[in-house]
Amino acid sequence: MESCSTGVNCVLAVFLALHLGLISSMAQQTEQQIGIAGQEVTLPCRGIPSDSSLSPHTVVTWMYSDTVIWRMENNNHWRKPGAVSDQFQVTSTNKELKVRNLVLSNAGIYTCKYGSYKARTSLHVFKLTVSLDGHFLQNEVPELTLMHNSPDPKPALSITLFNSNNNIVTPERENKSPQKHILNLKKLEATDSGTWVCNVHSDSSLINQNISFVVKVLGFQDPDMERKYATADSTVILSWHLNFQKIKWNKGFTGQVNWKQQESAKAHELLDFNVTALGEQHETRKSSHLLFEIPERTPKSTIQVKLPKVHFNHSGQYQCQLAYKGRHVQSNIELVVMKVSANPVGPLSRGVKMTLICEVSGPLPPKAHLRWERVNGTQMDIKNSKQHEVKLEVNISAAGLWSCHLIEDNDRKISLHYHVEEAPVWINYVVTGASIGGSVLVFALVCLCIISGISWQRRRQRAKRMAQARQYLLENKTCQCQHWLKK
Ligand SMILES: *[C@@H]1O[C@H](CO)[C@@H](O)[C@H](O)[C@H]1NC(C)=O
Ligand SMILES: *[C@@H]1O[C@H](CO)[C@@H](O)[C@H](O)[C@H]1NC(C)=O
Ligand SMILES: *[C@@H]1O[C@H](CO)[C@@H](O)[C@H](O)[C@H]1NC(C)=O
Ligand SMILES: *[C@@H]1O[C@H](CO)[C@@H](O)[C@H](O)[C@H]1NC(C)=O
Ligand SMILES: *[C@@H]1O[C@H](CO)[C@@H](O)[C@H](O)[C@H]1NC(C)=O
Repeated sequence: MESCSTGVNCVLAVFLALHLGLISSMAQQTEQQIGIAGQEVTLPCRGIPSDSSLSPHTVVTWMYSDTVIWRMENNNHWRKPGAVSDQFQVTSTNKELKVRNLVLSNAGIYTCKYGSYKARTSLHVFKLTVSLDGHFLQNEVPELTLMHNSPDPKPALSITLFNSNNNIVTPERENKSPQKHILNLKKLEATDSGTWVCNVHSDSSLINQNISFVVKVLGFQDPDMERKYATADSTVILSWHLNFQKIKWNKGFTGQVNWKQQESAKAHELLDFNVTALGEQHETRKSSHLLFEIPERTPKSTIQVKLPKVHFNHSGQYQCQLAYKGRHVQSNIELVVMKVSANPVGPLSRGVKMTLICEVSGPLPPKAHLRWERVNGTQMDIKNSKQHEVKLEVNISAAGLWSCHLIEDNDRKISLHYHVEEAPVWINYVVTGASIGGSVLVFALVCLCIISGISWQRRRQRAKRMAQARQYLLENKTCQCQHWLKK
């Protein structure tokens, strides 16, 4: 007792040691159990001997807080009467307590007593709800609500979310109150469909629980805005791939396909469709405005519109819209049609120029342009359009096969050919002949003019000289006469 300077101190130390031991033994005996609302949990009665070695006189009791909910004495079972206690069931072998169809208010301290022995279990109940019952449309924002109820002291919890690809998801907003966490997530994509995991973790690490939930995102498997290029008079099939089969949507929904030529133009409904909870798909044609067909055999979960011999002005926006419980999601395909023409049409005569015109029906993305080139031609026969130009003209003087390409990211998306025929030889001769003939004629005329001009001039001069001579003669005569008269 030398280390203890005073008796009081020693007593205190022993008391403290006893107290700590008691706490630790209590803590050891108090097991932590986690239950999920709606599911079932099994609380063990730790340390109890098996049924056979249990004395028949042993009294076994299960208590919730201070209330006895089940009791066994002399092989007689008693259960607390009432609807709620239908939730509780004790297994015959290990005297485990099963709590079915858990609700938040089931959280608390459960004690199993036999003889003088007590085993305590602390039950935490979590309830995770997903907005819209987990059935979303593309671009919708899910909200998760995690509620929990625990016996005191309530643990501080942190939450980590994993999406269907097992990647950690950071909520856009998190609203915490002691027993309720609200998490607002990012907009969903069709690929987010699947089983997500919500990990609940307490600082003391007593709780580390995964709660899984299913998210279904109805939508389109293609990228949101697709551009489709087509050459005039070709056959175009526009397809929208829906994901309802892939994600096992199992609920009915409807939809339609609309077309409008320009952003501002009026939309025309082409068809509508519905899909039943069993995944059966029905399409109904709505419009006769546009020459189109609904293909008989479409791939599964695909909506298709077929445009045989597409016209330049059938370009524009084709939109497929899905509707579920008054909510909508859509996917657009922009159809761009290309055509080529020539001015003047007809064969190209030597030395004459012709203009080839290549046109697309709508604006092109920044990385796309048009190109005219002559097949097997020279570098000189290539002309590219500038950015945002929807029409490319080229003045040509060489016949042959000319091609207009729509190029995007150095990739030839579509091409149209224009065959420029050379005018037949006789036409050239006629043209040449005519021009030579014409020249000769003009030359002859000029010569004639010059010749006649010269001769006229000469004649004039000669007439003038003769007139002068005549005058002279006349004058001379007069003089002579005068002379004569003077003589
Ligand atoms: C919970 O789920 C995540 C993601 O799937 C996993 O990494 C982790 O190990 C799980 N934790 C527990 C306690 O099961
Ligand atoms: C689905 O479409 C078919 C064919 O147009 C129609 O007969 C049926 O009534 C529609 N079903 C629903 C639930 O709208
Ligand atoms: C398309 O253009 C042609 C002639 O160029 C015209 O007859 C037709 O009505 C136009 N169609 C639409 C849908 O504008
Ligand atoms: C281009 O050249 C190739 C190979 O010399 C030839 O086979 C083809 O017919 C030519 N095409 C035209 C349009 O001249
Ligand atoms: C093509 O020729 C026409 C008429 O000669 C002219 O107006 C036009 O500017 C020319 N275009 C190009 C691209 O050279």
